[in-house]
Amino acid sequence: VLLLGFGQVGRAFARMLPPRPGLRLAGVADRSGFVLDPGGLPGEALARAKARGRSVRECGGAPGSAGDAVAAFRRATRGRGIVVDATADETGPVLGQALVAGLDVVLANKKPIAGSGQDFRALQRRAREAGSRLCFEATVGAGLPVIDTFRRLVESGDRVRRVEGSLSGTIGFVLDEVRGGRAFSAAVREAKARGYTEPDPREDLCGRDAWRKGLILSRLLGFRGEPPPPLSLVPPGLARLTAERFLERLGAQDAAWRGRAERAARRGRVWRYVVRAERGGATAGLRAVPRESPLGALVGTNSLVAFTTDRYSPEPLVVSGPGAGAELTASALVSDVLDCLSTS
Ligand SMILES: NC(=O)c1ccc[n+]([C@@H]2O[C@H](COP(=O)([O-])OP(=O)(O)OC[C@H]3O[C@@H](n4cnc5c(N)ncnc54)[C@H](OP(=O)(O)O)[C@@H]3O)[C@@H](O)[C@H]2O)c1
Repeated sequence: VLLLGFGQVGRAFARMLPPRPGLRLAGVADRSGFVLDPGGLPGEALARAKARGRSVRECGGAPGSAGDAVAAFRRATRGRGIVVDATADETGPVLGQALVAGLDVVLANKKPIAGSGQDFRALQRRAREAGSRLCFEATVGAGLPVIDTFRRLVESGDRVRRVEGSLSGTIGFVLDEVRGGRAFSAAVREAKARGYTEPDPREDLCGRDAWRKGLILSRLLGFRGEPPPPLSLVPPGLARLTAERFLERLGAQDAAWRGRAERAARRGRVWRYVVRAERGGATAGLRAVPRESPLGALVGTNSLVAFTTDRYSPEPLVVSGPGAGAELTASALVSDVLDCLSTS
């Protein structure tokens, strides 16, 4: 396995990769460069050093890009090779190279498959032509079996008509706190203090991450176009401030959010940030859903995905649980890697 990206998820993956015959961590790359040993690298020790602030290059690595790492890995690998992408970068071209070279690709990084539809289909085509696997369970709902459930439904002859869900733990937490009576700005600050948000909470509140997940799901359903952008919960006037000023000014939104929550509550509803994927496209925005529905009953940062199919209708098939976190995401990567091994 060549691991691209050695942050929270990459390090958890390196620690978690189980010892199996023929399976070893042969390469690790971060932005400083890469280290490669076809005989196997000490994942745990490397992860510890990286967590203490040492770059991969400082851990016996050489300078080079992710593309250089893939080329070197290919040359050094006899038999099946798997590239795991745990970066947050536009790695599409590098992954395309890997697939063409006959390597399997496993993703936590959404960007290569949530860019243009053309790029997504090109990656799929390369995988098909080379007989390689392109797996991306970890991109939607971390460790939750979302893609796997989709595939099993389709393989069993069911037709998935719609997938919808709450796929941003941060926005879910904030909206749930507001429902419970907390001010919107205080809920965002609390989410940041608990480490649920990116350093700048606007990256979560803009909805783009959840929208990307919806786009990936809609592409599985056969959508070929470009969907409308997500509804952002960041007021336009606060988009260009520093993160600190943004948080200071956010209080001006509290009254409006309180009013919205109260009006919804009078109708037995709660606000959720819902991603909806269909063959016709993907949307991401606010919806007032019945308090008693699976989406309405969600708590905290949990995620939920509901599949409406020919067989599961009108009651959808629901997958729910913690949908973020480095360990859970890494476990989905491990599961995809083992899946590649079992089909090689
Ligand atoms: N954390 C979660 O809960 C979660 C859940 C689902 C999916 N994901 C996805 O998983 C990915 C990783 O998340 P994370 O939390 O681990 O992020 P992170 O801590 O920021 O780590 C990103 C890593 O990628 C490396 N990197 C960036 N560009 C690179 C490039 N061009 N070539 C090689 N390495 C590169 C960085 O290198 P440096 O160390 O040198 O900066 C860093 O080691 C992201 O795409 C994220 O969206 C995360």
